[in-house]
Amino acid sequence: MAGDVRIGTVVFPVAGLGTRFLPATKASPKEMLPVVDKPLIQYAVEEAVAAGATNLVFITGRTKRAIEDHFDTAYELERELEQKGKHDLLALVRATVPKDVNCIYIRQGEPLGLGHAVHCARPVIGQGPVGVILADDLIDGTGQPVLSQMAAVHQEHGGCSVLGVERVPREETDRYGVVSGESGGQGITEVTGIVEKPAPEVAPSNLAVVGRYILTPAIFDLLADTAADHRGEIQLTDAIAALLKHERVVAYEFDGVRYDCGNKLGYLQATVAYGIRHPELGVGFRAYLRGVLEG
Ligand code: UTP
Repeated sequence: MAGDVRIGTVVFPVAGLGTRFLPATKASPKEMLPVVDKPLIQYAVEEAVAAGATNLVFITGRTKRAIEDHFDTAYELERELEQKGKHDLLALVRATVPKDVNCIYIRQGEPLGLGHAVHCARPVIGQGPVGVILADDLIDGTGQPVLSQMAAVHQEHGGCSVLGVERVPREETDRYGVVSGESGGQGITEVTGIVEKPAPEVAPSNLAVVGRYILTPAIFDLLADTAADHRGEIQLTDAIAALLKHERVVAYEFDGVRYDCGNKLGYLQATVAYGIRHPELGVGFRAYLRGVLEG
């Protein structure tokens, strides 16, 4: 955890259809895809817990039951492992989420967009800031998990909303929310505008929002008033654009490497990156890859 900075509640919108990863996501959630030996959602939960979260709010939908099961106690499995004396595995199975953390599951009945998914969390949100993590953006924070880095920025900048951003190639701006603003140094941009999926020729910059947000609770009233876009989706980006009219929002270029595990190439890259430095598999996996590339 970053000093005394704590983001008590983190929302995980996991109700998307995952069409870029079909057929794998036909009947199972993309957030349960493993990178080496842990599902994406567990990396996200560990990042939230490291930032001090004690309320984890999962916005789920059809085909997402495996996520709830993953964070539940698995009595039969635990008994079996205990009887066989497999204590290391037992510890792994029990450690998916700390005991003092609440897991709250809310159904998004229809996939009406990321903004709608975040708004579904409203009944369980308190007065404090809320973290939002998109688990399919797996981010390997350099030294410190990204949400903790952002919590420190949130505190240093008077408790304002913070967007995790990354510079992307110009030709890819139409996949992201893109911010405009003035550089404040040290990776900070004072956000003056944000647009969803702009074409490269009209994008205000190449600073893209990538799956990490700390938002003040004011976002919820604005989400309630946000109209659906031309595709029928309520966009979080549009509510953040409205928030900018009332409050300061900063974008933060985090230290770390992001893998877009919502698409197949990004997922393969994550698997290689995490595989080659895995404590048990790394040496063997490196040797295997060398053989494949040289062979
Ligand atoms: P994506 O844009 O990645 O959409 O959503 P998707 O449906 O998950 O995947 P593709 O594009 O069809 O392959 C961004 C995030 O918002 C969540 C998704 O689960 C993902 O984490 N989301 C999106 C919802 O929870 N509900 C929605 O209605 C839409």
